[in-house]
Amino acid sequence: MSSEQYSLKICCMGAGYVGGPTMAVIAAKCPHIKVTVVDISVKQIAAWNSSSLPIYEPGLQELVESVRGKNLFFSTEVDATIAEADIVFVSVNTPTKTAGIGKGFASNIKNVELCARKIAEVSTAGKIIVEKSTVPVRTADSIKRVLKSASPYEFQVLSNPEFLAEGTAVNDLLFPSRVLIGGEQTPGGLKAIDTLVQVYANWVAAPQIITTNLWSSELSKLVANAMLAQRVSSINSITALCERTDADVDEIARAIGADPRIGSKFLKASVGYGGSCFQKDILNLVYICESFGLKECADYWNQVVLMNEYQKKRFAMNMVKTMFNTVTSKKIAIFGFAFKKDTGDTRETAAAFVMKDLLDEQAILHVYDPQVTREQMMLEFQYTLNVTEETTPGLNRLIITCDSVLEAARGAHAIAVMTEWDEFTSCDYKALYDIMEKPAFFFDGRNVAPHAQLREIGFEVYAIGKPQDKLF
Ligand code: NAD
Ligand code: UGA
Repeated sequence: MSSEQYSLKICCMGAGYVGGPTMAVIAAKCPHIKVTVVDISVKQIAAWNSSSLPIYEPGLQELVESVRGKNLFFSTEVDATIAEADIVFVSVNTPTKTAGIGKGFASNIKNVELCARKIAEVSTAGKIIVEKSTVPVRTADSIKRVLKSASPYEFQVLSNPEFLAEGTAVNDLLFPSRVLIGGEQTPGGLKAIDTLVQVYANWVAAPQIITTNLWSSELSKLVANAMLAQRVSSINSITALCERTDADVDEIARAIGADPRIGSKFLKASVGYGGSCFQKDILNLVYICESFGLKECADYWNQVVLMNEYQKKRFAMNMVKTMFNTVTSKKIAIFGFAFKKDTGDTRETAAAFVMKDLLDEQAILHVYDPQVTREQMMLEFQYTLNVTEETTPGLNRLIITCDSVLEAARGAHAIAVMTEWDEFTSCDYKALYDIMEKPAFFFDGRNVAPHAQLREIGFEVYAIGKPQDKLF
């Protein structure tokens, strides 16, 4: 199709976990729309144009290959792509601020503002700007003011937060629970909302497309993540009590989840939630509440974060305590480093926090994850925890990356499951036991391994929120 034949041209700024998959699905479902994803990272765009995509998501490679070069393009030509677009999605990263006002809590919308400035600079006509990034409520106001002050053209700003979860991104985008679009309740705003509704209507049924005012849409995204994380912290808060009372957290989750008012999802106890968004978005919500003087509301949500910190710390401390109060120079096999299964993403992974506590005790960690490279792991330690060879002398000796569970477990005193990868549910645990030091400890931070079988083999098992071995 020549450029003029497309019914609409979309530009997406930011070719990350959200921008890439989201635009691939729009392109696949709307062959009449030209979709171009741009990024300031040349490396990132090169990877999207290669046979080895920059992110791992089931089904993504096939999906991208089915439309790339047809109506989906990845480019570093930021200015020209914005200029020709009717709709510009802003899908850049909005991490927690590391300095200045709101440090450690507020989201940094620097990248979003830079996008707005760039759009104003290179546009030769008015456009619809779509906030896809997760942003503090009322960010659209800032975008509008930047655009208005720097461009003579008319722009409509919409909020269209993304609800995909990593590891299931393609499926979530193809079959979304809902699509949320917020916009100004003016004739111009409503028209822009309708234009975006028509894009999604190519594959999403009308009742699932929810339209609201701008601020409800922006705030709904933060509230959705806060409520999901709250469920994880709530079930995790019960695990310590289960361990003291011989109740079983999975049985409790089943029993309470059968009540449709509670629901069965997001009740899987764990070593703690991770990922790039839960922590950042709740901290942002806490900050926003505080900045409006709503201390009680801020404290309420902050408790979800504190419970998660407690869970990670509790797991590590329990490992040390169980292994005779010392793990110094002991080899520990770490199964999984990604923040959840089916993704190579390591941002804020609970594994890093547990490993940091074990490193402080001078344990030797042999890590196996099917999707995470050593380079990525070390970057995560540096970025989130400031753990480097400089801050933790001997780090490169204390963390050894392995290519298989067997390699990781050889000579180990313990195995700790950090990510619920399917392969950890059905390993040849007898073979692993045979090559480990004895007593062989097993710490299941995800409750995915066959605990009864492990005990039969001879392992001493600790599982989150489960009745404990009386040996301890
Ligand atoms: P990411 O870090 O994977 O990707 C962001 C990309 O934006 C990077 O490639 C970066 O180079 C690019 N970028 C930064 N500034 C730019 C600019 N000025 N112009 C062009 N490109 C620029 O981030 P992500 O995980 O895709 O998240 C993006 C946003 O979506 C965040 O606000 C996040 O909270 C939200 N979100 C993420 C997920 C998720 O699962 N990761 C889900 C829903 C919402
Ligand atoms: C989450 C939300 O689920 C998405 O809707 C949202 O779009 C996204 O954040 C975002 O804004 O970035 P994601 O972080 O990719 O998605 O993954 P989740 O499946 O939500 O898991 C988050 C963390 O919670 C993981 O570490 C996971 O292992 C943990 N978790 C989840 C549990 O410990 N127990 C559960 O029952 C569910």
